[in-house]
Amino acid sequence: RLLIIDFGSQVTQLIARRLRELNVYCEIHPYQNVTDDFLAEFAPRAMIFSGGPASVFAEGAPMPPQSAFKMGVPILGICYGQQVMMHCLGGKVQRGHGTAEFGRAFVTPTDARHPLLDGWFGEGREQVWMSHGDHVSDIAPGFSVYGTSPNAPFAITADPARQFYAVQFHPEVHHTPKGAKLYENFVRLAGFKGDWTMGAYREEAIAKIRAQVGDSHVICGLSGGVDSSVAAILIHEAIGDQLTCVFVDHGLLRLNEAEEVVTMFRDNYNIRLIHAEESELFLGALEGVSDPEVKRKTIGRLFIDVFQKYASQIEGAEFLAQGTLYPDVIESVSFSGGPSVTIKSHHNVGGLPEKMGLKLVEPLRELFKDEVRALGRELGLPQSFIGRHPFPGPGLAIRCPGEITREKLEILRRADAVYIDQIRKHGLYDEIWQAFVAILPVKTVGVMGDGRTYDFACALRAVTSVDGMTADYYPFSHDFLGETATRIINEVQGINRVTYDITSKPPGTIEWE
Ligand code: XMP
Repeated sequence: RLLIIDFGSQVTQLIARRLRELNVYCEIHPYQNVTDDFLAEFAPRAMIFSGGPASVFAEGAPMPPQSAFKMGVPILGICYGQQVMMHCLGGKVQRGHGTAEFGRAFVTPTDARHPLLDGWFGEGREQVWMSHGDHVSDIAPGFSVYGTSPNAPFAITADPARQFYAVQFHPEVHHTPKGAKLYENFVRLAGFKGDWTMGAYREEAIAKIRAQVGDSHVICGLSGGVDSSVAAILIHEAIGDQLTCVFVDHGLLRLNEAEEVVTMFRDNYNIRLIHAEESELFLGALEGVSDPEVKRKTIGRLFIDVFQKYASQIEGAEFLAQGTLYPDVIESVSFSGGPSVTIKSHHNVGGLPEKMGLKLVEPLRELFKDEVRALGRELGLPQSFIGRHPFPGPGLAIRCPGEITREKLEILRRADAVYIDQIRKHGLYDEIWQAFVAILPVKTVGVMGDGRTYDFACALRAVTSVDGMTADYYPFSHDFLGETATRIINEVQGINRVTYDITSKPPGTIEWE
């Protein structure tokens, strides 16, 4: 396996992605955790040093342990990773007075040739993406130069004897068009066969779960979303009835959702499942609450209480399973304690393990969303589950601005079902990241069948996104919107006006609260 040492670059995740696309298994670990002992235990076949925001001149600058260079394995250093390699191996780095490069640059080949660059330099120069202040001014003994750019004379360097490679630019980003080729060459030179598949991952993950859990019992909060579903099925495959799932029904789910989830897990997978029907508790506590943050915090707190109540009935539970994905891990590493403001208190089961004295099982920690979907397919999860749009933990509560009432929830559920049905019928579901209805806290006047109506207005929302961090509204045709509005008003009593939300994120957010 390949080890990526993360020095804090914003794009380290993309390195992992490029490698998985090459069917190479890799893990990213923050530099602070990579000690001599760690390296000895991990025994990487190759390493990549990521970029990062630091300068090697800074006090306490992030460094790999010296033993990394003595393991006899290939190393590829990127940007800060290159500078660190040169710094550690006897080269020189210079502060970037006037030679910083950000953005597009062109690298031209030197006379020397190296297999790392097979397939490169077709037309004599190649576009790359740079983002550096400092730069290497003297390469370390043993290294040669294979490519230069105006502000980075040592844009591509290598010590072929030791199989150390170091580049100043970022081959993992889209704006380095031949970057993937460079990774491909690197892993080939490092001897990887490219035989890592989801099937292999499944087997490895199952073995790891068995080793971690032993004879103990695991509990898993199931939301019906893709991540927790895949985690639960994988763990069930590993330990069978040592797993119990808890599905908390807070009364804020979509139409028929609870039945669908519970049936799927009980009937198809024979997984032990507690259906915690607690809607009275949640809806009672939310009565009269209209502030979005108070809603979120109330739901988060009750969720923990309820989960704890059911979990304490399961004897011998020592582990809590979570469907944490790789981007969640990285975000919490790079941003914990950071200066970002709270836009919304996202509800999850954070805080549970400490409170309950449980250890964590997180079998998806190394995967990206699309890889989790691939694993789900591998595990036989139906496509209808795998392709589901994300649904937030606080559920319909945050799609019901203002006070939440049972009446509004019922109307919202039915309107949402019609809207999603329309989207499916038009074959648009998979093109959309997420679509839902929000019921507005206003009633408006209408006329239906010669009579006056005074009913709720609603807003349709549909966005495209790759990660939920930024989003754009989906450009439905006017025909589609018109037809959907007519259907909702005709089929859902209580709504007489339909609007379409055309706000992107930012400045909007995807959910309304
Ligand atoms: P926003 O509204 O912040 O949403 O643009 C981004 C994505 O996150 C989902 N979301 C949540 N998911 N718990 C979750 O598990 C939450 O509290 C929560 N709030 C928002 C939202 O549906 C969208 O996919």
